[in-house]
Amino acid sequence: MPEGPDGQPDANGLASAVWPASAERVDGELQVGGVSASELRERFGTPLYVLDETEVRAHARRTLDAFRAATGRHGVMTRVYYAGKAFLSTEVVRWVTEEGLAVDVCSGGELEVALAAGAVPAHVGFHGNNKSMAELERAVEAGVGSIVVDSPIEIERLAAIVERLGATQPMLLRVRSGVHAETHDFLATAHEDQKFGFSLDDAPAAVARIREITGLVFIGLHCHIGSQIFDSSGFTESASRLVEVHAALLEDGDIPVMNLGGGFGIAYTSVDDPQPIEQIAEGIVAAVAQECAVRGIPMPNLAFEPGRAIVGQAGVTLYEVGTVKPVVVSNDLTRLYVSVDGGMSDNARPALYGANYSARLASRVSEAAPALARVVGRHCESGDIVVDAEYLPGDVAPGDLLAVPATGAYCFSLASNYNYTPRPPVVAVRDGQARVIVRGETVSDLLARDAGLAAAMEGNA
Ligand SMILES: Cc1ncc(COP(=O)(O)O)c(C=O)c1O
Repeated sequence: MPEGPDGQPDANGLASAVWPASAERVDGELQVGGVSASELRERFGTPLYVLDETEVRAHARRTLDAFRAATGRHGVMTRVYYAGKAFLSTEVVRWVTEEGLAVDVCSGGELEVALAAGAVPAHVGFHGNNKSMAELERAVEAGVGSIVVDSPIEIERLAAIVERLGATQPMLLRVRSGVHAETHDFLATAHEDQKFGFSLDDAPAAVARIREITGLVFIGLHCHIGSQIFDSSGFTESASRLVEVHAALLEDGDIPVMNLGGGFGIAYTSVDDPQPIEQIAEGIVAAVAQECAVRGIPMPNLAFEPGRAIVGQAGVTLYEVGTVKPVVVSNDLTRLYVSVDGGMSDNARPALYGANYSARLASRVSEAAPALARVVGRHCESGDIVVDAEYLPGDVAPGDLLAVPATGAYCFSLASNYNYTPRPPVVAVRDGQARVIVRGETVSDLLARDAGLAAAMEGNA
């Protein structure tokens, strides 16, 4: 962690790689998007997901610019899809589409959010390894720009649908490039022994089958090697393997696109050091260009699907501290357990794959000596950890507001009702204004789903 002037860990600083650009301390208190932590608590309660609109838009623009510049240098076009699984609401779809991004969805529900937000169907890509007939039919009828097919069964399902509807559907074929991304095993998606896509060996037969079906139009290969990847080496290796198959497939018809997925990493703590997106874009695009040149084939247009890189750094979760408890771990280590009013129900990532976060007091700064703390949730699991290890001011106390940065991606979207916990609202901040973009749940919302309760009330009536 960054050090203060006295060489001690700086327990109050806001590392710029981790926090939204708008995050600052005003009279000691954290502000995001010009709105103070105490105003957010007063108006919306805690826990609270705070999403900085300006930051989301800035990442969307910067990412699009990076890929446009890189592909433009090689005379091809790009389309950047925002991967909605990272965080989806109609507002966020509006922000990213206004900034020029297309939208990638991977379920019928996500598709409905994108369509409800007014996304142009032709600029929507539809993913998933087990899309139902109903979902596929809805996507074809809505006119989505591409469906990324994941298995032979799905090709036949789509064949039946386009025949019945008399529709024409552009499709990509998802392949496993065999590259095991340098990330957590659960975040790697292109090695062989996992559920997504076709092996490169099976791709030619699958594409041949698609090409013989009237109404299905094969437009390119797709590969997503994984998530939270910090440099371009895995992407470039994967891209070169894809180009080899792409070149062979060109013998039987035009292939306008290659989609190389998302997965661009972000800094969750100041230790993380992802390459700038411009450098990653340059590396991937140059690798494709070189592989195409070696084979003497035209370079396809390139598509990408960043999720985390667009919304991750824009999110901050606010919690209220409930209890603080020193736990003696060994003779020379005492850890301060700081319990907050949320936890694995609003951020499953630490429990799911050991993700690291950082935290700061949001309601004040403190000159108290930093203490090694573990921020934990309120749920009945010892793995219910919000921040595994962080230096917080040693006087952190019940009632303090704590902010965890870099929670914009895969926190709201992976939230649960564990322990009958209502999911928190999402509030967008911008230019000193805060507004709810997803309302929080109440216990009544949860009870309303309990059919046994309804039956008991009818019995009592
Ligand atoms: C096919 C596909 N594309 C894009 C993404 C987005 O990944 P990230 O949010 O890491 O950019 C994912 C994430 O799981 C994915 O499975």
